[in-house]
Amino acid sequence: MEFIPYGKQWIDSDDIQSVTEGLQSDFLTTGPKVAEFEKAIADYCGAKYAVAVSNGTAALHIASRALLGPGDKVLTTPNSFLATSNAILYAEAKPVFIDIQPNGNIDLDLCEEALEKDPSIKALYAVHFSGNPIEQKKLAKLKKRFGITILEDCAHSIGATHEGIKAGSCTNSDASIFSFHPVKHMTTGEGGMVTTNDKALYEKLKILRNHGMVKTPKMKPWEYEMRELGFNYRITDIQCALGLSQLKKLDGFIKRRRELAQKYDKAFKDNPHITPLYCFDGCSSYHLYVILIDFDKIDISKEALFLKMREMNIGLQLHYIPINKQPYYRTLGYGNEKTPVMDDYYRRCLSLPLYPKMENIEQRYVIETLFKVLHG
Ligand SMILES: Cc1ncc(COP(=O)(O)O)c(C=O)c1O
Repeated sequence: MEFIPYGKQWIDSDDIQSVTEGLQSDFLTTGPKVAEFEKAIADYCGAKYAVAVSNGTAALHIASRALLGPGDKVLTTPNSFLATSNAILYAEAKPVFIDIQPNGNIDLDLCEEALEKDPSIKALYAVHFSGNPIEQKKLAKLKKRFGITILEDCAHSIGATHEGIKAGSCTNSDASIFSFHPVKHMTTGEGGMVTTNDKALYEKLKILRNHGMVKTPKMKPWEYEMRELGFNYRITDIQCALGLSQLKKLDGFIKRRRELAQKYDKAFKDNPHITPLYCFDGCSSYHLYVILIDFDKIDISKEALFLKMREMNIGLQLHYIPINKQPYYRTLGYGNEKTPVMDDYYRRCLSLPLYPKMENIEQRYVIETLFKVLHG
């Protein structure tokens, strides 16, 4: 069996055709494909506005610069990629790490308790971990009760829905962000997006993406004004051409991810050692398929299992090392928060290969090899 990674893109002749046309057009960047891609993503998610950028971290950065100020306290999760809370630091704000629920998402009840105790908390950054969306009714309640700013990190969850609300629609939040890295549901190579329903925020994000520069019809033809300390986070038209053709296939990609996830669910149903993080209930768009293993009850360590599977050409991954315990965060005084659910989760979690191009035979090989390595 050839190496089976934990995630991988699906590129076919439509994508190559679309990129070729992009390369042959007059605009390689700042052209019409960018606005076309933005509109397509906004429509797909049901949000009014979208701003495309060079990657998901850039999306988080400009959103944070627009939404937060120095010293603002922001509730967030230790169970994410570093970029989520790094963006809070970029804005000179202060992440406050809250424990997770058993499904891997931030615990919104604990967020409510934190907000009750400390009314100075300004915002909440909630990640739809692994593609499983955060509870929308609870988000709505927190927003209404405490008037906080909410950002949804949907880097894992494009196409997911909860209580009829699509990820990225910003129904109960100020902004959502996406990543189009190749391991995600759809790719532009590197790429990201912010969606919002707030026109003023949308205008600010566009300025921050492009050096803080503004050009108005009243200005002389050569004039521009810098009104913010912005960045060059522009995405190219070539990438957006790829994004547009990937978006046409997105629902099919998600359907296949869900099929594979349900097959994993079935395979592990009666297994005494493997527990899926959650079973399919129609919500998750499954960026990741995470299992939990009680390593203290079996004869193999996590590291040995990881290496053994690698030897058998299967790439497992681990999502995530708690961000607050990273050395850099420790230098800022983090790391000793009470996060028992996260700590237990981190000891037990592993991500299995999952991507739309994965064949049934490859998935069977992953399951059988895992059983063999665990049970001898
Ligand atoms: C939850 C989450 N947020 C943000 C990002 C950052 O996205 P990018 O890699 O496109 O910068 C990632 C990337 O892995 C992610 O998983």
